[in-house]
Amino acid sequence: MSVVVIGQVARDLVLRVPEAPGPGQSANVRERREVLGGKGANQAVGLAQLGMHVALVGVVGDDGTADRLLSRAEADGIDVSHVARRPSAETALIVDVLDDSGQWRYLEHIPEETLVTPRDVFAASGLIRSARAVVVQLQEPPEAALEAARIARAAGVRVVLDGAPGGLTEELLAHADVLRADRREAELLAHKEITSVDDAIEAGRSLVERGLSLAVLDAAGVGNVFVTRRGHEFLPLSDVEVVDSTGAGDALVATLTYALVAGEPLPVAARLAVAASSLTVQHPGGRPRLSRAALSAYT
Ligand SMILES: Nc1ncnc2c1ncn2[C@@H]1O[C@H](COP(=O)(O)OP(=O)(O)O)[C@@H](O)[C@H]1O
Ligand SMILES: [Mg+2]
Repeated sequence: MSVVVIGQVARDLVLRVPEAPGPGQSANVRERREVLGGKGANQAVGLAQLGMHVALVGVVGDDGTADRLLSRAEADGIDVSHVARRPSAETALIVDVLDDSGQWRYLEHIPEETLVTPRDVFAASGLIRSARAVVVQLQEPPEAALEAARIARAAGVRVVLDGAPGGLTEELLAHADVLRADRREAELLAHKEITSVDDAIEAGRSLVERGLSLAVLDAAGVGNVFVTRRGHEFLPLSDVEVVDSTGAGDALVATLTYALVAGEPLPVAARLAVAASSLTVQHPGGRPRLSRAALSAYT
């Protein structure tokens, strides 16, 4: 069973400091990790860890960093044949400065040339059509997201969207099955603050009325709501120590997609997805550490 992920590939540098320095100050880095990152790669890694065949559609530069990231992705079992290399571009870099209270600060260098274009998506049409699901990050340009959703929908392939920028048009919603948004993204979608679980449910309802079959929204920072046309369920955050929330949403999306493709009923898929975020917040950096065995303890 295969899944195509369309999204960012980046060099991820996680720096752990006791406290983030203010202007004119410095901090000693206690631990440093450099990994394959970016939302697209994180989701692809998560899907591969769960045993799916996964192909990544993304863009890297023309540098040594790209070589290293692509070899890592291959070692992770990801099909990178549709990761484009842009001549004279630099591969994206995300620095995650993480302090001891679990607060992160991101420094992102995402050159425009490393965004996915409709042409990159079109080049992967064959893969998309034969997949069981396509996961599309809405941080990528809206035209590329729409191209992916159109190709997938025409072939009866499930479309999972992650994020919520200005590019979420009615047309895109009409071509999508599932959408997941974090707190800030959910507020952008709802055009208002989400201060309660009920607010999140209401926002989810308005999304499923516009074409989705499932909306998964962060509910005011206390959990996630899973809203369908038939009803809704709220799952609270688990009671674990949050070291770094980075990548927890990506792990949720990857696991939800895996579970739906595997034919799990929604209540089970939702629990597995939340369990995956709970596992991911317990370690620094966005690279997931998922396995079916680790998740099965939660269902
Ligand atoms: N203790 C926890 N248990 C389960 N999920 C958590 C916990 N703390 C945070 N999360 C989840 O982590 C998510 C982070 O999502 P998001 O901001 O999209 O991360 P990213 O885009 O970096 O993957 C939140 O929406 C929340 O649901
Ligand atoms: Mg997210």
